[in-house]
Amino acid sequence: MVRVKVTSSIEDIIESGLTGSLIFKKPNVLTPEHIPPRLPHREEKLRELTLAFRDVVEDPGGTSVRVVIFGPTGTGKTVTTKSFGYAFKEKLKVRGIKLEYVHVNCHRQRTLYLLTMEVASSLKLPIPTRGLSSQEVFKVIHDYLEKRNMYLVITLDEFDYFINTSSQEDIYFLVRLYDEFSSVVRRVSYIFILRDLVTVSALDKSVKDHIMRNVIKFEPYRAFELNDILNDRVRDAFQPNVVPDETITFISDIYGYDKGGTGNARLAIETLELAGKIAELRNSPLVLIEHAKEANSKINQEAGEILDSITNLELHPLLLLKALLNLNNRFRIDTVSMGKLEQEYAGICSEIGEEPRRHTQVYEYVRRMKLMGIINTKQSGKGTRGRTTLVSLNVPVTPQLENLINRILRMRLDNREESD
Ligand SMILES: Nc1ncnc2c1ncn2[C@@H]1O[C@H](COP(=O)(O)OP(=O)(O)O)[C@@H](O)[C@H]1O
Ligand SMILES: [Mg+2]
Repeated sequence: MVRVKVTSSIEDIIESGLTGSLIFKKPNVLTPEHIPPRLPHREEKLRELTLAFRDVVEDPGGTSVRVVIFGPTGTGKTVTTKSFGYAFKEKLKVRGIKLEYVHVNCHRQRTLYLLTMEVASSLKLPIPTRGLSSQEVFKVIHDYLEKRNMYLVITLDEFDYFINTSSQEDIYFLVRLYDEFSSVVRRVSYIFILRDLVTVSALDKSVKDHIMRNVIKFEPYRAFELNDILNDRVRDAFQPNVVPDETITFISDIYGYDKGGTGNARLAIETLELAGKIAELRNSPLVLIEHAKEANSKINQEAGEILDSITNLELHPLLLLKALLNLNNRFRIDTVSMGKLEQEYAGICSEIGEEPRRHTQVYEYVRRMKLMGIINTKQSGKGTRGRTTLVSLNVPVTPQLENLINRILRMRLDNREESD
């Protein structure tokens, strides 16, 4: 069934003439950077954020607000927070309060120093690139706010990375800024975005108490929610009437959390975009379910290939993978140190009466699985004593993955007994 929509603004007509596409009207609406004009099913979260920040309006400088936002990937944490920040700034301007909003991605700005430099440059503060410590940069920022009677909301997106890679002192400095400056007027507030709360719970109690004041949880999207999100994108990005409802429903059902999907809006939008490109390539006037299916399998192909290579692993690399999975499940973290991994692996080996392989051999397995794309390794950053190898899985931990690993493992173990 094809919906009838006849809303072509002058701008849209010109834009589509320029793109020359019969499928897309404004393809950039589908990019991850695009901030949509509304956020279906995140209205409640926007309200919660506003309530948490009401003090800044009622008693500017009286408190430093701290909000923690957590939830899995693709649940709208980044887009909701950014939308809030920009709109909040405007609302305060009308009320005569000067506030700046700065959104920093801790994955990109990995150290306290880079992070403070990023905040400074967002405020267009001229800071010499060399010579100042993070503390001094923050002092410059603070003086700047003080002089202009301004307030600042800093969002630390992907804060998990900062916690995992920074020293206690750096984390402490960041979250307890006011003890550091002993300023009377509290000018800086924070929003911390995390994937889950486990990383925070590992922190010192004094640090934790500074962070965990308001906690807002983002749930994976259900199919009908994704449907609404996709509908908006279809209306803004595609030519009228080229994406039938059933295609949107099909994609929503793949990713809907209540239908066994991940609830990830990013992947749903990516699938929609790719389906459109495939339709265009096939000269189809409509984006059909078959195009969405093809898009979906392309997007999941990489994951599929990795699962294939797991099927071919020998017993001991599999045991290592099992150990990685155990640690993932037990601590809900996706990156573990080589030491922890080996310990867990040795534990499993003793349970099943296998002699654990030696350190160098284990390293070799890890290296091979990295080449196969199953796992990823990186060196730990500053802060942890000495450098250590950190290991993570390249595919999401799903029940399917666990079943697969357990099944192959059982097969290998059965064979072991036969060949004994
Ligand atoms: N409620 C929503 N309405 C519209 N678009 C959304 C919504 N939630 C997420 N998105 C879109 O889905 C993608 C992923 O959202 P993002 O905020 O990056 O998720 P997260 O930060 O939780 O991983 C982005 O393109 C974002 O614009
Ligand atoms: Mg994000």
